[in-house]
Amino acid sequence: MGCNLQVQLEEKTGFFFSGSSSSLQPEGLSMLNGSVIDIKDVAFLRDNRTILGGITWQVQRGQHWAIVGANGSGKTTLLRLATGYLWPSRGQVCVLGNVYGEVDLARLRRRIGWVSSSLTEMIRRHQTALEIVLTGAFASTGLFARPSPQDLERATALLNHFGCAAVAATRFGVLSLGEQQRVLIARALMAEPELLILDEACAGLDLPMREALLAEIDALARAPSRTLVFVTHHIEEITASFSHVLVLRGGQVAAAGPKADVLTGEVLSAAMGVCVRIDRHDGRFWPRVLRG
Ligand SMILES: Nc1ncnc2c1ncn2[C@@H]1O[C@H](COP(=O)(O)OP(=O)(O)O)[C@@H](O)[C@H]1O
Ligand SMILES: [Mg+2]
Repeated sequence: MGCNLQVQLEEKTGFFFSGSSSSLQPEGLSMLNGSVIDIKDVAFLRDNRTILGGITWQVQRGQHWAIVGANGSGKTTLLRLATGYLWPSRGQVCVLGNVYGEVDLARLRRRIGWVSSSLTEMIRRHQTALEIVLTGAFASTGLFARPSPQDLERATALLNHFGCAAVAATRFGVLSLGEQQRVLIARALMAEPELLILDEACAGLDLPMREALLAEIDALARAPSRTLVFVTHHIEEITASFSHVLVLRGGQVAAAGPKADVLTGEVLSAAMGVCVRIDRHDGRFWPRVLRG
């Protein structure tokens, strides 16, 4: 993906650093309230099962959070609650200063970029890569309105930026996993979101592709008005850009706080139920599970 070149491109064009468009002005309260995400005592129950319980989590402006936890620990459910695609059984969800239940979700979602397998399932796979990116302008999964020339220009530039210009007219369903992930990140950036949620964005990528995408994510984290939430199974994917880490276990918060406090062998061993040792290299944290 030519990461250095792309970072230079951003710095030169201000592509990801440009101001919000008129429909995306921070709305009143979010300027007063420093929290980007404010989740208070949230529970989510289904089929008599507590999938999430007693979750309290705050993301402040200027922070970038990574979320880790085993399969089924509730990471995607938590983020579907944060994006308003699920409703909590108990507790309050407040995003960008807006309390869910008192806000027009369709409008708010344009300020939130979301990449998730959960979203990929909702995407109409027969649409072209360009059409998928364009849906990001409307925070919809299909293209129901005619995009403006500016939208077309931005979508094309985003596809170029992510090295996907050659597949712009190709159906999403036939793209490689790496291309699909990059198209979905381009889609998430269409509306210049204040909050960007990447749920297992690196899943299934080979090593060079993963490292290239992590460099892209680092570049996205440098936009001063943007907050990132990044879900991963792999602790070594938590790059220097991330300031805080949330660990979920069995639908509950096992640990949360500044990265250096949470990504320790002691905290992770207790949170994950296996004996973990952490080695730090180049600002990243490499886990090893100790046997016996
Ligand atoms: N709408 C739902 N109805 C029933 N069970 C669900 C629902 N959403 C999630 N789950 C269950 O909740 C648990 C957590 O899922 P998920 O949030 O996808 O975990 P993770 O993203 O951490 O792998 C899983 O056991 C899953 O089967
Ligand atoms: Mg998940």
